[in-house]
Amino acid sequence: MTESVTTLAPLAETTDWWRQAAVYQIYPRSFADGNGDGIGDLRGIISRVPYLLQLGIEAVWLSPFYPSALADGGYDVDDFRDVDPKIGTLEQFDEMVAALHGVGIKLIVDIVPNHSSDRHAWFREALESPKGSNARARYIFRDGKGERGELPPADWTSIFGGPAWTQVPDGQWYLHSFATEQPDFDWKHPEVREDFLRTLRFWSDRGVDGFRVDVAHGLAKDLGDVLPSKAELKAMPKADGTHPLWDRDEVHEIYAEWRAVFDEYTPARTAVAEAWVETPERRAKYASPTGLGQAFNFDLMDADFDATHFRDIVTDNLAQSAVTGSSTTWVFSNHDGVRHATRYGLAPRAGRPGKQGADWVLAGGPADEIAAELGLRRARAATLFELALPGSAYLYQGEELGLHEVAEIPDERRQDPAFWRTTPETRGHDGLGRDGCRVPLPWTRTGSSFGFGTGGAHLPQPAWFADSSVEAEDGVAGSTLELYREALRLRRELQGAETLTWNEELSGGDVLAFTRPGGWLSITNFGDEPVALPDGELLVMSADPVDDTDGTALLPGATTAWLRRGEA
Ligand code: NOJ
Ligand code: CA
Repeated sequence: MTESVTTLAPLAETTDWWRQAAVYQIYPRSFADGNGDGIGDLRGIISRVPYLLQLGIEAVWLSPFYPSALADGGYDVDDFRDVDPKIGTLEQFDEMVAALHGVGIKLIVDIVPNHSSDRHAWFREALESPKGSNARARYIFRDGKGERGELPPADWTSIFGGPAWTQVPDGQWYLHSFATEQPDFDWKHPEVREDFLRTLRFWSDRGVDGFRVDVAHGLAKDLGDVLPSKAELKAMPKADGTHPLWDRDEVHEIYAEWRAVFDEYTPARTAVAEAWVETPERRAKYASPTGLGQAFNFDLMDADFDATHFRDIVTDNLAQSAVTGSSTTWVFSNHDGVRHATRYGLAPRAGRPGKQGADWVLAGGPADEIAAELGLRRARAATLFELALPGSAYLYQGEELGLHEVAEIPDERRQDPAFWRTTPETRGHDGLGRDGCRVPLPWTRTGSSFGFGTGGAHLPQPAWFADSSVEAEDGVAGSTLELYREALRLRRELQGAETLTWNEELSGGDVLAFTRPGGWLSITNFGDEPVALPDGELLVMSADPVDDTDGTALLPGATTAWLRRGEA
């Protein structure tokens, strides 16, 4: 690896650094293992800071690293203000912050306010305390139905499948929207609210620059004594702020309090909401400058590789950010979805546009259904398209290596509760589960865990990881790693005002072209047939050009090119 890059990323030096940052998501248990126990850790991250610097990202988003029994990959948090001893220590956390900041990279940490784990001190206290106690009131406990309360208070199912209510030894039941080990907090309780403010300050004081807010749309709930049935819940409107469980208007009172804490710091701490809501208008509320400030837009994760879909999504989201004053966000892959190289290598499913990834995991993730080369080619074109857009680009570890989803995980090695809580018949939208995108990264061609660490890896790595390792791609012209490095370098140089103009002359059919200020043109050919390359200085291309019969270079199918043109 070339270690020559030592400059600070220019965007990271401004107070508005987050508006157009390229943010790299690290799923810590699967990034790099510093002590050889098979689990990624903070030492591993610190050792890879030069890699992150050379990649050219402006910020890291760190998925949960808190103490956890890993009932849900760390999103079951035992203590919101500590580091899992399997991952490191608070001192190492400080060291990591210093190492990242030392090279100009910001740090966003995941915060999980909808639920704790069942090992959290408060939940243990709740179990030891009687019905009606203050300790129980921090969570959502109810008496059961039936003569002796032997039936759950409602027939709701959890997001991961299986029941959403679990009974405790004295007969009461608690709500968990996700796994059994993830009891939901009652955000009407003032101690819950205060404790999270304390947590936000705890990490902000340690130098954390921002927060990714898990299940941001779930905190405020309105549950009376008589609970609606699952069918009734489903029939209730979800877009007017009155649904008992999701996206209630008063959730924004919580975020207004958080904003006041963020603004105590200089520069103000930032936040990005994971909010699954019904309409763009509802999403805008989370992105408000008086609230979290930015919200994920997952539209591209659910889109076919198609010029019309991509254009509509970009147009809608830019219009939305113009209303909120926030910047747009773009995501193709994260720790919850099928990697985009794989999604784009799957045949479209009739009548289910954009759902091929979800349907594929539901069907058991057969490896032979992936057109691997085509998928990667499209993913590279899609990423180059994304990196030219205004706003923040959220990249997921391993996509810079062109990794595919790992299909070949034996059932007994799977970890995701979405798998373990369901049967093939009852599987929810996470299907077989999300382990296939969480397999530890390959750093070298060989070694017990492809350089992830000196021991094994907590999820099995396939043999094909060798050719997608950092070692295999580093310095290799045309590799996906070099494409990301080059695109991120150029992006920092070219990034200007958050505006985009569609180039109507070049767009049409399978081709989509737009310009950014300063004559930066991005053109994507979503089709199969080559098209003309526009005039201008060619900066980067996601695949090699092809020659026309007269020798002129053409833009082949499934390819994006960036050019610099002499326009304002
Ligand atoms: C969303 C997270 O991204 C996912 O990984 C997790 O399982 C749920 N929230 C529950 O915390
Ligand atoms: Ca380790």
